[in-house]
Amino acid sequence: MVEEMRIVLRNLGKIDPLKIDDYINAGGYKSLQKAWGMSQMDVIQEVKNSGLRGRGGAGFNAGVKWGFSYNTPADQKYVVCNADEGEPGTYKDRIIMEKDPQSLLEGMAICGYAIGATKGFIYCRGEYPFVAELLNQAIKQAKDKGVLGDFDIEVRMGAGAYVCGEETALIESIEGHRGEPRFKPPFPGVSGLWGKPTVVNNVETFANLPSILEKGADWYKAIGAPGYPGTKVVTLTGDVANKTFFEVPTDTSIRDVVFGLGGGIPNNKKFKAVQIGGTSGGFIPEALLDTPIDFDSMGAIGATLGSGAVFVMDETRDIVDIATRIAKFFEHESCGKCTPCREGTKRMYELMVKMNNGQATAGDWALMNKLGSTMKQISLCGLGQAAPVPILTTMEHFNQEYKAKLLA
Ligand SMILES: Cc1cc2nc3c(=O)[nH]c(=O)nc-3n(C[C@H](O)[C@H](O)[C@H](O)COP(=O)(O)O)c2cc1C
Repeated sequence: MVEEMRIVLRNLGKIDPLKIDDYINAGGYKSLQKAWGMSQMDVIQEVKNSGLRGRGGAGFNAGVKWGFSYNTPADQKYVVCNADEGEPGTYKDRIIMEKDPQSLLEGMAICGYAIGATKGFIYCRGEYPFVAELLNQAIKQAKDKGVLGDFDIEVRMGAGAYVCGEETALIESIEGHRGEPRFKPPFPGVSGLWGKPTVVNNVETFANLPSILEKGADWYKAIGAPGYPGTKVVTLTGDVANKTFFEVPTDTSIRDVVFGLGGGIPNNKKFKAVQIGGTSGGFIPEALLDTPIDFDSMGAIGATLGSGAVFVMDETRDIVDIATRIAKFFEHESCGKCTPCREGTKRMYELMVKMNNGQATAGDWALMNKLGSTMKQISLCGLGQAAPVPILTTMEHFNQEYKAKLLA
């Protein structure tokens, strides 16, 4: 029997998100005070030792990232929280921010102390105006109480562009420019916002920090999968009985998420596929359902953990049709800065329409494979690199459905 484990969502339903005293009475801001009593290097080492890796998609070790900013001398450094939450089917950051905003603020302030930053920004999804309002109230309460010390936090709104979730496009957007990714290196840790060392972490990543500082790296490292310790907040959508969110240790299998906590497929239908990590995630067939939802295990089967969105499809779903809609999404969201993505997403969509309409040949099948692998290798940012993943994984695992639509 699979069970939830709540670290990030530990206060959910137990506190009033707009009463900072509730958070403080639940032990809030003790971790930040503990951090202030440690050296900056010791805080970074503790986070490194915990094994905490990014929850926004790329899975980079948080402490290592902080080390880059700490080690880069500058008159000003920044902490940026990625709350763009643009992956379709993902709503975990909204839950965290709505239900326990002070956890996020405390996590950001711990990072600020560790790297030597006095300024933080939360880049909030444009479609979440109510969350931004709530965050502003929470920030005001924290400032009035003086719990953040000299660390200041400001909310900036996105405007609905998927690419602005990519950390360098996000930085461009905060700076007031068009949201397009930058070439990397230099990475934001060394040269980010206004060219200054900047740590960009996801909401869920930051919200893990108060518990890590409180209970220690060894406690955290012992939870879940050794290579990607801790928990993951997953959000379930599609043909699944319980369309809601759960926080589970990272060694929990996809099967336990979908059929255990998720309650399985409703209406006496059979399972066909699950897509994890949002639109850019790979499709996973029944045979791979025992894979744990940790970052590396997902990568090993050609899929991604991404944001932790879990989109379930029953036997009635037309996989080729779904893949075509996904291709349309990427064609629309490509920012156009680099050629492989700008042209590739267009051609990918055209090929998908042909396949879906039964007008594609075996040559088109080969072309899609070649185009997909080229985009993965040479696109400038993760958007173009990931866009072929759902298409190629459906071609691999559900090739009978494609072949049934191919021209003879
Ligand atoms: C197209 C694209 C969209 C992304 N959208 C998000 C997002 O909405 N939220 C997020 O946290 N990370 C997103 N990322 C990942 C960020 O670039 C970055 O890896 C992340 O914010 C780093 O934080 P983390 O290490 O805590 O995960 C996106 C990446 C790409 C390529």
